[in-house]
Amino acid sequence: NHGAEFIVVANRLPVDLERLPDGTQRWKHSPGGLVSALAPFLRSHSGAWVGWPGVPDVDLDEFTEDGLRLHPVSLTQDEVRDYYEGFSNGTLWPLYHDVVAPPVFDRGWWDSYVKVNHRFADACAKVAAPGATVWIQDYQLQLAPAILREQRPDLRIGFFLHIPFPPTELFMQLPWRAEIVRGLLGADLVGFHRPGGAQNFLWLARRLLGLEPTRGAVGVRTRPGVIQLGDRAVRVGAFPISIDSAGLDALARKRETVARTQQLREDLGNPKKIILGVDRLDYTKGIDVRLYALQELLAEGRVDPEEVTMVQLATPSRERVEHYQRMRGEIEQVVSRINGEFGRVGRPVVHYLHQSVNRAELAAFFSAADVMLVTAVRDGMNLVCKEYVACRHDLGGTLVLSEFAGAAAELTSAFLVNPHDLDGVKNAMHAALTIDPAEGRRRMRALRRQVLTHDVDRWARSFLDALDPEHAH
Ligand code: G6P
Repeated sequence: NHGAEFIVVANRLPVDLERLPDGTQRWKHSPGGLVSALAPFLRSHSGAWVGWPGVPDVDLDEFTEDGLRLHPVSLTQDEVRDYYEGFSNGTLWPLYHDVVAPPVFDRGWWDSYVKVNHRFADACAKVAAPGATVWIQDYQLQLAPAILREQRPDLRIGFFLHIPFPPTELFMQLPWRAEIVRGLLGADLVGFHRPGGAQNFLWLARRLLGLEPTRGAVGVRTRPGVIQLGDRAVRVGAFPISIDSAGLDALARKRETVARTQQLREDLGNPKKIILGVDRLDYTKGIDVRLYALQELLAEGRVDPEEVTMVQLATPSRERVEHYQRMRGEIEQVVSRINGEFGRVGRPVVHYLHQSVNRAELAAFFSAADVMLVTAVRDGMNLVCKEYVACRHDLGGTLVLSEFAGAAAELTSAFLVNPHDLDGVKNAMHAALTIDPAEGRRRMRALRRQVLTHDVDRWARSFLDALDPEHAH
C-alpha cells in the first residue's frame, strides 16, 4: 500500500487552476489565510493534500506540485453554486462571522453541502494509508470527519476551524445545527482559534446531543476539553494559528525586497507617511471602515493629503456572491470620492488595487508601510497583521488592529480599535501617524517577540501533538 500517512483535506488545493482567455491554463497560489499557513508546513512534512482546484468541472488525477502530492476533488457548476457559493459562503460564512451579513438558509444548498462533504471524505478514504493521520480544515467540510470515520475507523482524524465559531445563540439559528455538531464529533480533536469558540462548541454538544463534557478546562494550548462518546473521546481545544514568521522575516531582509520597498515609496511620490490595507475583498474585513475614517480625517484637516498616501490591496474573492459584489461597489465608490475630493493630478490619496499580489511584492509593501490598518468587524485570526509584524525587522511601522480579530488576543501592543467606533478608529489612525519613533519601536519589538516565537510550525505541532500524543511532531 502506498497510501499517504499524513493528509490535509481542505476545500481548496493550495493551487488554483486558472483558465486564460486564450484557452490555456496555469496554476497559481490559492487565496486566503488557510493555504498560506498550511502549505509551508505540509511541504516540510511530505504529506498529501485533498482539495478542489478552484474551477468547476475539472477531472484531474493526482499530481505533484511544488513538493506537494495533490489529490483534486471535482465540483460541478451546480455544486460550486450550491455547496461553495451557497451554503459555505452564503450561509455559514456570514453566520459564523456574527451575522454581519444576513445568512441565507436554503435546503437545496444544504443538500449539496452534504453531498460534497461525502465526496471529500470518499477521496480521503482512498488516499489514506492504514492508520494514517488526517487533518480536515474549515467550515466547508464540517460533516467530513463523521463521514470519514464511518468508512475508515482506523484513521486518526483532526479538524480545525479557521474562522470564528459563533456565539451559541447564532449557531442555534441553523436548521442543520445538530448535523453539523455530529459531523465535527467524528474527529478525535476539534480545534478552534479561541477558547471561547471551543467553549461554545462544548455547550452545543451538551445542548443538542445531550453529551456531557467529562473533563478539562478549555485553554490555549492547555488541556483540551473532552467529550466522551461511548468508548471514544473527542477532544476540543484552542490553537491560535500563525504564519511562517522566520521565512517572511528573511524575505523582508533580502536585498531585492529592500530595493523594491524603496521603489514603491518613490512610485508613490515619496510621501511622508504610507498607510496600508491588505485583505481579501470581503465584507468582514472592514475595508469601508478605514476608508470612512480616512475621509473624515482628511475633511477635518487632521491628515494632510500632501503628506499621507494610502494603499489598499484587495484580493478578488467570491466574486459571484451577491454581498461581495455590493461591497465592492461601495468600497470603490468611497475610494473615488476620496480621490475626487482630496487628490490632485499625479497624486491620488488612495491607491486601490483589486488584484492579488505575490509574497515578495507583499513583503515590500509591508516594509514600506508606516501604518498598517486591520479593521475587520470579525476575523477568526487574521494573518495579515502577523505578516506585517514579521516583515518589520527594522522595528519601523505601527499596527492598528481590530479587537474583533482573533490576533488581538496575542498582539496586545498594537493600537487596538473597535471598528464600529469610527471616532476611535480615527484617533488610533491619527495616533499611529504621529507616533513618537521610540514608542513605535517599543511596540513593534513587543509584537515581534510574540510573532517570531509563535509561528505556524508551533501551531501545527501543538495541534498534531494533541491529536496524536505518542508521536512527536
Ligand atoms: C478564509 C477561509 C478559507 C478560504 C479562504 C479564501 O481564509 O478560512 O477556508 O479558503 O478564506 O476563500 P476562498 O473562498 O477563496 O477559498
